[in-house]
Amino acid sequence: MLEQARTFIETMYQELQYEPQAISKRIHEIEREINERDTYSHTSEELKYGAKMAWRNSNRCIGRFFWETLHVIDARDIRTEQAFINSIEHHIKFATNDGKIKPCITIYSAEDPPTIYNNQLIRYAGYVEKGDPAEQEVTQLAHHLGWSGGYTDFDILPLIYRCPNGSMKYHEYNSNIIKEVPITHDKFPKLKSLNLKWYAVPIISNMDLKIGGITYPTAPFNGWYMVNEIAVRNFTDSYRYNLLEKVAAAFEFDTLKNNSFNKDRTLVELNDAVYQSFKNEGVSIVDHLTASKQFERFESNEHKQHRTVTGKWSWLAPSLSPTLVSNYHHGYDNTMREPNFFYKKRGTSGCPFH
Ligand code: ARG
Repeated sequence: MLEQARTFIETMYQELQYEPQAISKRIHEIEREINERDTYSHTSEELKYGAKMAWRNSNRCIGRFFWETLHVIDARDIRTEQAFINSIEHHIKFATNDGKIKPCITIYSAEDPPTIYNNQLIRYAGYVEKGDPAEQEVTQLAHHLGWSGGYTDFDILPLIYRCPNGSMKYHEYNSNIIKEVPITHDKFPKLKSLNLKWYAVPIISNMDLKIGGITYPTAPFNGWYMVNEIAVRNFTDSYRYNLLEKVAAAFEFDTLKNNSFNKDRTLVELNDAVYQSFKNEGVSIVDHLTASKQFERFESNEHKQHRTVTGKWSWLAPSLSPTLVSNYHHGYDNTMREPNFFYKKRGTSGCPFH
């Protein structure tokens, strides 16, 4: 832990151009604390900068140009259940910001954390043949706890959590804090009759945040959507909403034969629809070409700071027209640096009823 702390403190303090004495003083302090109680606490400044570095090091993320703008909420002192729920709802409201989405992370205690069982704070339930198949497990967990949804394709799952010394519970959000966007297309009015919608803010809640040897197991964070995450993957993947045929029918494409190119046409128009719909509702969203340009600017900023960029190619190549962006045409070094976000090991927060 001391070694990881040292690396983090040195990197952060040098980047922020602190005096060398400040670095050695802080490392000694941390060493004393670790000897005394086997762990140490970050200052709130370290927590804030560490979280930003974790975003900067996220190899799968194409949105890293904005890493320095992350709003970090230090919730390490939250102990009561009510304060926990309030802080989660506060995150949702703050990040949504009436549609002008702000990247935000809320970081809870590393030593005595509440547990969140949801993959994202806002997500649609998945049932047999309805809803989001990716959420079937969390939906079953909610059912075990006594929750029942409306059995529609778009039931917002409740927050499923456990506070230290408490039992597992669910909490249904006050619905007026959840912003959703109905999906329409101005050139294909029949799309509206499918009643598609998506929520405004993706808030990942199933990853560990690691900073300087300390693991924060509960640290939900969000940015805004890139259009193809919703239109290409969530709506169209055969193991998700699987909507290609229904949408093509709404667009009145008469055939989906491979060599008609109508599958591809459907995908492009569905991206257009999701993008227009978010914009019409005043909700932040980015198209894949703009996001890729922003990523190039991130790469060039990093090079100016004499840092190299690590990345995971299969995630940085967008799922719509990947060859149109520069990311596609070169490789990335997928080394995982710290601070960073890590997938949890299976079994630590999955459904305890399975
Ligand atoms: N791909 C995930 C989803 O569709 C969201 C991942 C995070 N995305 C983001 N733009 N910050 O829900």
